[in-house]
Amino acid sequence: MPALIVAAGSGQRLGAGGPKALVELAGRPLYAWSVDAFRQANNIDRIYVAVPPGRADLFTEPGIVTVEGGETRSHSVANGLEAIKADGDPAMVVVHDAARPLVPAALIDAAVIGLGSDTELHALIAAAPMTDTVKRLGGDGVVVETLDRSSLVAVQTPQVFRVEALERALESGDLAGATDDASLVEASGGSVGVIEASSGNIKVTVPGDLELATLLLQRNR
Ligand code: C5P
Repeated sequence: MPALIVAAGSGQRLGAGGPKALVELAGRPLYAWSVDAFRQANNIDRIYVAVPPGRADLFTEPGIVTVEGGETRSHSVANGLEAIKADGDPAMVVVHDAARPLVPAALIDAAVIGLGSDTELHALIAAAPMTDTVKRLGGDGVVVETLDRSSLVAVQTPQVFRVEALERALESGDLAGATDDASLVEASGGSVGVIEASSGNIKVTVPGDLELATLLLQRNR
């Protein structure tokens, strides 16, 4: 099955002065760690990487197919899916953020197998139980309510989709407003399940995250 790693973000919050996916993490570009995990996964046979427009030559990991990314994350996913479909007609696809370099290959495989064995679901996504208490704020910045943590999860990638459902969701959805693709599937009436992931599958967003990711990579080695 194909995998799509989205790596076309600008990385402004990281302040690296260039694409986040190319920032150095433990001696390699950030995105290369995710490529490794997908290479190790048993169920992945093709790895597509959505890259910033005009920067494909900087993505030199062997064995990947680069695709020009789009204006937003979901536009990058739509471009990637188009390229994947042009090369074949897979039933399922895995989408992953290059910003999560610690993704375990075993989590990718478990998510693929999980969706494959549950015909009721259109997508299966990695998520960690909430450990923080979460509150909703009003427009004035004052707390309106405290949410029931026991029914909340913090959503990550990988996210595995039935291609037909993801395509439909991308066609009809608010691509500019979506922070993940599963939300588009939900909005189009699809059924999205969750597979438990560890909070160690962190997302590199601000500079301190790079230090934490380096420590976790060293520990995992
Ligand atoms: O901006 P954010 O950190 O939520 O981005 C999540 C992932 O989506 C990152 O891996 C980033 O490279 C990717 N992305 C993309 N195309 C965009 C914006 C973000 O592939 N236009």
